[in-house]
Amino acid sequence: MGLLPAEVDNRLLVGLETRDDAGVYQISEELALVQTVDFFTPVVDDPYDYGQIAVANSLSDIYAMGAKPLTALNIVGFPIGTLDKKILAKILLGGVEKSREAGVSIVGGHSVKDPEIKYGLAVTALIHPAKIIRNNTAQIGDLLILTKPIGTGILTTALKNETLPDALLAAITDSMKRLNKNASEIMIRYGATACTDVTGFGLLGHLVEMMGTGQKSAKIYTADVPLFSQVFSFIEKKNIPGGLKENRKFLEPILHIPPNFDERFLNLLCDPQTSGGLLFSLPAERAGDCLEELRHSGETKAAIIGEVVEWANKPVLLI
Ligand code: CO
Ligand code: CO
Ligand code: CO
Repeated sequence: MGLLPAEVDNRLLVGLETRDDAGVYQISEELALVQTVDFFTPVVDDPYDYGQIAVANSLSDIYAMGAKPLTALNIVGFPIGTLDKKILAKILLGGVEKSREAGVSIVGGHSVKDPEIKYGLAVTALIHPAKIIRNNTAQIGDLLILTKPIGTGILTTALKNETLPDALLAAITDSMKRLNKNASEIMIRYGATACTDVTGFGLLGHLVEMMGTGQKSAKIYTADVPLFSQVFSFIEKKNIPGGLKENRKFLEPILHIPPNFDERFLNLLCDPQTSGGLLFSLPAERAGDCLEELRHSGETKAAIIGEVVEWANKPVLLI
């Protein structure tokens, strides 16, 4: 993102410049290679769940491109010699079982001694070059669908502060473990015009990237955005992750925020997500059926959260 010189190889179909979810490199007329890497420190205490979440999160960028993941490499940091190796075994078991659920083979990996646990995958996937779903190609008139509720940054902060009830921990763990595989297959089938997954920049940060540069804006129906129950009470109790503050600082000047807008919503919409859902645009006339199919397939909180409109001086208008 501005730190690396641009690549000039014309077989590189998607590179760094649009901050898309994965790189895409053309191999032949019919085939392109899709690659991405993601890893992070534990977001939950249970090592097996953490392994599952890390893998679901790593595969998410592939699903956002509309690609099919094939193989992956483990990336591991672990306090070897200090912490019981059984913990690492549980993390890797969670990871391998989630990979199998996705139909992905883990073909190797690398671990380093690290005072802080880290885990994730480098993923290799394939796609037809004509079927790449980019992040910045939404069309004016499209509706926007989000497939998972938001608030995992705030709620995992509450977990670190030891104030998160077990039922809510179970709810966010389930959501973060859930593969975006079904959601991806459905958005492809309904002709999504653009897609990204919602992760560290929060819903609005990823939405801003999706709007690209000055041709279109997103109007967000704030009240329709799916969220975890009780998340507002944890915002009120100041469970605000550092990343949320950074996202807000960057985003506030480029948002249209109506007067008297609920401060709690502004925090929530900037909350960095771990293994968040897919955010995609599609022609309005298909959105209702698409949503119904998503909900039937288990994305029970999926919702239409806004629309793509003509450029309105800011990339995102909150209503
Ligand atoms: Co992504
Ligand atoms: Co990523
Ligand atoms: Co090695």
